[in-house]
Amino acid sequence: DLAARMKVKASEVIAKLMGLGVMATMNQVVDIETATLIATDFGYEVEQGITEEIGIQLLDAQEEGGETKMRPPVVTVMGHVDHGKTSILDAIRKTDVAEGEAGGITQHIGAYHVRSKAGDVTFVDTPGHAAFTEMRSRGAQITDLVILVVAADDGVMDQTKEAINHAQAAGVPILVAVNKIDKDNADPDRVKRELSDFGLIPEDWGGQTIYCETSAKKNVGIDELLENIQLMAEMLELQADASRKAKGRVVEAQLDKGRGAVATVLIQDGTLRNGDYFVVGQYSGKVRAMRDDKGRPIREAGPSAPIEVQGLSGVPLAGDEFIVVTDEKMAKNVSQARSMKVRETELAAGSKISLDKLFEKM
Ligand code: GTP
Ligand code: MG
Repeated sequence: DLAARMKVKASEVIAKLMGLGVMATMNQVVDIETATLIATDFGYEVEQGITEEIGIQLLDAQEEGGETKMRPPVVTVMGHVDHGKTSILDAIRKTDVAEGEAGGITQHIGAYHVRSKAGDVTFVDTPGHAAFTEMRSRGAQITDLVILVVAADDGVMDQTKEAINHAQAAGVPILVAVNKIDKDNADPDRVKRELSDFGLIPEDWGGQTIYCETSAKKNVGIDELLENIQLMAEMLELQADASRKAKGRVVEAQLDKGRGAVATVLIQDGTLRNGDYFVVGQYSGKVRAMRDDKGRPIREAGPSAPIEVQGLSGVPLAGDEFIVVTDEKMAKNVSQARSMKVRETELAAGSKISLDKLFEKM
């Protein structure tokens, strides 16, 4: 099936499988990550959808009984400088009912989970539009929803337009937060007029875009914003199957003096557990320890959870795919094959590897 889809001989696929340490026959069922890796090896750019398609077909026979359930939305806040992105996130975090337990000290891991009265939401704290574009160009789509923050006293500015372009190009729905409505010169209608030119027509003007008027400073409209996030999430019908092996994306990663390579991973499907073997970008590893976004040790993490993983063989890039595989051999074989491929392409391109890049890999 897999061979036919790629228009290659089945024997070639079997040979590749053997190369990965998987003994296969013609009618062998291979799991989703193996299928992805093989396809990549044949030079196919594997898109999420295609992976799922191949994977699900091949998995049907193997991993039945899996049940998809609603998962929390993953939300990114974007907007022009100083329009109040951080303030809104801070205000939202204050509503977190779980926050008190952690003593209010929030470990910053680039993404965090909020338990609101309206439901759970995961916020990705991306360091700006560049990171969003970078991730998207690498095929990493981690955001389900964008909150576009526009200051009511300032209106649509350059970075507002940029954010709209990025979100629309990625096909991610936008929810508008018209912020700073407490200001004397606030003019929410002007914001609505300006944004309408970009196709973001408010519901009360006959359009489909949800607008929330907020004051992060005075804590106005924050609950309503959270409720609307949940409402949009419900319409998107975000599903995941917690019974599968975990799959996710790296949000950020670094080398920690005491703990080695550490990555913030957003789980997109399945459940990640301590001891799981995985491939991440061109590296591999075994989950040695995990922490949640509040720095607490955890043993497992389900769909949409942002977590910090320890036990990587190197520092991956933001946007790299994180996939749990069956065993250590598989993890190592795949990461070796991948890092060789990276080196090959770098050499083939005659690329002068910058010093930065060199150090990045050490
Ligand atoms: P960058 O991260 O630099 O792009 O800015 P930002 O969008 O995160 O804005 P930030 O939350 O840092 O807010 C910028 C300034 O606006 C701060 O001085 C805030 O106190 C102020 N501010 C944010 N929200 C409100 C609001 O609702 N009302 C008023 N009056 N001021 C606000
Ligand atoms: Mg900020």
